[in-house]
Amino acid sequence: MKARASAPGKAILFGEHAVVYGKPAIAVAVNRKAIVTIQESTEDDIKVKIPELEVYGLIDLVKGTISPKDENFSDVTPTYNTGILDYIQHALFSDEFNLDHGLDINVDLEIPIGAGLGSSAAITVATLAATFNYAQQELTLEKLAQMAHKVELKVQGSASPLDTTISTYGGFSYFTHKQGAIKLETNMEMPLVVGYTSKPGNTGKVVANVRKLSENHPTIINPILDTMETVTNQAREAILTGEEKKIGELMNINQGLLDSLGVNTLELSNLVYEARNAGAIGSKITGAGGGGSIIAYCPGRTQEVLEKLQSVENAFPITISSEGVTW
Ligand code: MEV
Repeated sequence: MKARASAPGKAILFGEHAVVYGKPAIAVAVNRKAIVTIQESTEDDIKVKIPELEVYGLIDLVKGTISPKDENFSDVTPTYNTGILDYIQHALFSDEFNLDHGLDINVDLEIPIGAGLGSSAAITVATLAATFNYAQQELTLEKLAQMAHKVELKVQGSASPLDTTISTYGGFSYFTHKQGAIKLETNMEMPLVVGYTSKPGNTGKVVANVRKLSENHPTIINPILDTMETVTNQAREAILTGEEKKIGELMNINQGLLDSLGVNTLELSNLVYEARNAGAIGSKITGAGGGGSIIAYCPGRTQEVLEKLQSVENAFPITISSEGVTW
């Protein structure tokens, strides 16, 4: 028995942080994925391999516990990267499945972790879909999105359903906590370059810092969050009508607002300005900030922006994936 599923990462174009306060965000699925393969094994435990991260783990089938290992499955000290194994363990040990034999699980990961590109959501969604596929159980996208969000909540303590929703459904989404994701029907091609710093962001910590700031300065921060909402709503119109210049301007305004929330860093700011200098018409932090990534919108200038950002930090071009999870 062998089963496979893949799920895309995401990039937030507008509205990160404001979305935590009930405001809308616009996010897209990107053409970088997590691909999970599950195969029956003759051994009586579950071996997990994520070769791109050099992360390996062993799940005890009886206790359901996962321990990080090296590539020979000998003991190893946990690192930042091995934390990703917890998502796989919680996905496999949800109430839906009754795992009673050993498995070999392989994750091909095309998304850098800690870069604000939804790698943990993509791994969770793909692991759940591959497990349903392996167990030959019925699955709907709605159920998958809900289960994946629960896994993120268990592992992280708090999480918005944004990443898991985008990874499940794909495409362009306008998202609010109340209404969930509404697909934006557009064929707009957005040439985007992601630049990511070598310092992974800590979403929980950055979100908590913004919360503290908003409690200390409510009369200042609340209007900033309201303005972010206006930016996102105007961006939605600009995306639907294909107004490139306006989208770029709104991204730059959104960056200034994010900076005022204290989520910018010297490295992120540097990437933002290098991208603009190389011809991006809009560039901003994507995701929580405090490390992680920026996104640059660069119609006709992808190569120039890519080369510039690669000379400073890490960068790669992305395209929007209309496809979500597949199995
Ligand atoms: C993180 O990718 C986006 C934030 O808005 C947090 C969240 O929505 O959970 C910063």
